[in-house]
Amino acid sequence: MNEQVAKLLNEQINKELYSAYLYLDIANYYDELDLDGYANYYMIQAQEERDHALLFLKYMQINGLKVTLEAIGKPDKTYASVLDPLEVAAEHERYVTALINNIYHEAHQARDYRTMKFLDWFVDEQMEEEENADSMISRYKLFGQDPKGLYLLDQEYAARVYTAPSLVL
Ligand code: FEO
Repeated sequence: MNEQVAKLLNEQINKELYSAYLYLDIANYYDELDLDGYANYYMIQAQEERDHALLFLKYMQINGLKVTLEAIGKPDKTYASVLDPLEVAAEHERYVTALINNIYHEAHQARDYRTMKFLDWFVDEQMEEEENADSMISRYKLFGQDPKGLYLLDQEYAARVYTAPSLVL
């Protein structure tokens, strides 16, 4: 496999694990506010990010590529309102989309159609992740500033359950 593509795939394991760490930090912030539904939502988000990391890891293993695990960065955002983490999450997902697009671009340049096909799932996933993150912001702005509205949103997010990724390698 093309060296640059392999390097980016390896880096993406770390980026996805950092995403999981960021969402654990956000879940922890909401837990401190007793917004258990929002906390639940981001705990599940963190599980999904771990799944993403494992998919990249497995893909590299299947293709006989050397995996190097690097240190995961400390989540260093500070939050001062219910809205803050939602905005950080949306911005982070756009960053992850850019990373996926970049790997896709390199794979395309290298005529690595297998990796492009693998990444297709992530391209779709990022569209969904961005849409969900944006929707959490707009719903908070519409309903969340009223205590009853915030309570109902929190109840709704409490109902989110984990589902394994639809991509199986
Ligand atoms: Fe793994 Fe939220 O992107």
